[in-house]
Amino acid sequence: MSKKIFLIQRDALQPGEVRKVETPGCPLAVYNVDGTFYATSDVCTHATASLSAGEIVDGDLIACPLHDGQFHIPTGQAMGFPCTVDLRTYKVIEEGDAIYADLEQESEAAASAI
Ligand code: FES
Repeated sequence: MSKKIFLIQRDALQPGEVRKVETPGCPLAVYNVDGTFYATSDVCTHATASLSAGEIVDGDLIACPLHDGQFHIPTGQAMGFPCTVDLRTYKVIEEGDAIYADLEQESEAAASAI
């Protein structure tokens, strides 16, 4: 099963940047981590802040803007208090300069971490 949606053009998101993208059902946060694109739910699992308003720190962590909780971007893993529930991740598909997400599949890093 696949539900591919367009997220962003590659050159619209520079390394170290995160952007909110509205999709049917759930806003996503799209990240450029040193040239690799990732997508997660934009909604912090602690108290529903928008993670795309936060910052990428320590290479591949997103720091929530509300209480500074952190998640590992590739796997969605919650990194500790106050975040205890992992983020939903989405498989990213790159086709030329266009970046897509498959809303039916988790990221490859999350899938291989199970
Ligand atoms: Fe994100 Fe509290 S809402 S850490």
